[in-house]
Amino acid sequence: MGLKILMAASECVPFAKEGGLADVVGVLPKHLARMGHDVRVVMPRYYRVGLEQYGLKLLPGVLTVPMGIIGNQYCGVYEGRLPGSDVPVYFLEHEGYYGRAGLYEVNNEGFLDNDNRFIFLSKAALELPKMIGFTPDLIHAHDWHTAAVPVLVNTAYAADPQVGEKPTVLTVHNMQYQGNFYEGAMDVLDVGWEHFTFLGLEKDGEMNLLKGGLYHATVLNTVSEGYAREMQTAEYGWGLDGVVRERAADLYGILNGVDYEDWNPETDPHIAACYSIDDLAGKKLCKRDLQRTFGLPERDDVPIIGLVSRLVKQKGIDVLAEAMPRIMALDVQFIMLGAGEPWSHFYFGDIRNAYPDKFGFHVGYNNPLAHQIEAGADFFLMPSAFEPCGLNQMYSLRYGTLPIVRATGGLDDSVDNFNEKTLDGTGFKFRDLNAGALFDTVGWAVHTWYQRKDAMAELISNAMTRRFTWEDAAEKYEKLYHRALRKRLGERAYTQRYGKQ
Ligand code: ADP
Ligand code: GLC
Repeated sequence: MGLKILMAASECVPFAKEGGLADVVGVLPKHLARMGHDVRVVMPRYYRVGLEQYGLKLLPGVLTVPMGIIGNQYCGVYEGRLPGSDVPVYFLEHEGYYGRAGLYEVNNEGFLDNDNRFIFLSKAALELPKMIGFTPDLIHAHDWHTAAVPVLVNTAYAADPQVGEKPTVLTVHNMQYQGNFYEGAMDVLDVGWEHFTFLGLEKDGEMNLLKGGLYHATVLNTVSEGYAREMQTAEYGWGLDGVVRERAADLYGILNGVDYEDWNPETDPHIAACYSIDDLAGKKLCKRDLQRTFGLPERDDVPIIGLVSRLVKQKGIDVLAEAMPRIMALDVQFIMLGAGEPWSHFYFGDIRNAYPDKFGFHVGYNNPLAHQIEAGADFFLMPSAFEPCGLNQMYSLRYGTLPIVRATGGLDDSVDNFNEKTLDGTGFKFRDLNAGALFDTVGWAVHTWYQRKDAMAELISNAMTRRFTWEDAAEKYEKLYHRALRKRLGERAYTQRYGKQ
């Protein structure tokens, strides 16, 4: 039986993206729709979302959103579709909150009104069903930006005929970002100060939206089984591990899939030459092309290590910085694409100046270039401090570019370590987060490339045949939705309504 699902998020490909969250919200609904579910996505209409570019249409009427002490706020709603599907996406138009460059910050400083901006998103998502005449079976929220949704459904909106007390799913893509604000923001959320407690929205004297969501959602999940375990520990829980442990019985890990229509070396329009597992000739051309693009010596006889990432501590960039001089002493080429913490732009810029024949660096966000690095490199480095899922290692496997990863979260779940005896495996892993372990593992991979061509061929073939499909992931989400429904409705009502699932 098809479910009616309302999905609320702050990012969605292709409209607005900062990280992998956008990939998930842009692809999962399409697969759920193919399975017969009626999914509707709601998100802000950021300034960068072009109305004409996506053919967005303004719906008649205005949403009234009660913002507590601020009073009512009003917004228009544009409707569009997820490209290549019929999935409706509703864009909330509020000039004051979203009419600016940037999703969350400017010059590395979070916007000072992010509390209001995302409380508004959460409330408007719950007002939207009235306007569009849609009564969801359940509501799916993502990360702190919409973590207020499960709280509101259980409190301020409990009596709402369309969304009140509906089952909610909260997907945590990252425990580090929690949406913690000055306690006065409780008067904007307006669910009653009795929820500002240790067993509610209060953390260290602040209002913490993620904490509220973790308590109130009917079921929780994160984007790998590994991270579902890790987020219950002090090392990875960012102070909320205790809350997650309390909810452990309702917590699931579902590994993200890959959009293989977009990430496929056999058809990729961004790369110099297409290739497949049966004919890797094109990959050599891609390597040459990449060397040319970055002005490095055009050599076949040297391995290229690629890295595409937000340049932040989560991604282990500080540890890489420490290992860099030793890596540069090897006969390798290294190509890096990313933007993030300002120090990293300077530091890796200096590395480029010191090793112009070995190190290529492009500061910025560039999707075609990301594809070219996946295709042209021999190895792909992800030394993350933590990684709930990670997408690039999965892309790398498909492109026959062996991942070198820290064994954490989704990286550990999706990459199998090279076994020198059996030649099993799809990449190279290290456990300790330090420059020595990182360098040793890069050295191991580089040594394998130079000395064990037989093993390299085996590993590349293993990697290119691995698949992480959205079909699999979407089926798991469907099961999760039914768990939420069963839990919220009770066994009897659930079976009456949805039958035996
Ligand atoms: P996160 O969401 O933590 O940043 P993920 O691995 O889940 O990590 O997703 C990152 C996504 O953003 C991938 O699709 C990756 O290719 C893309 N990406 C990151 N930085 C860049 C960049 N500088 N240029 C192009 N794409 C990038
Ligand atoms: C977050 C995580 C990343 C994950 C992505 C999508 O940004 O940092 O590991 O892949 O969400 O779930």
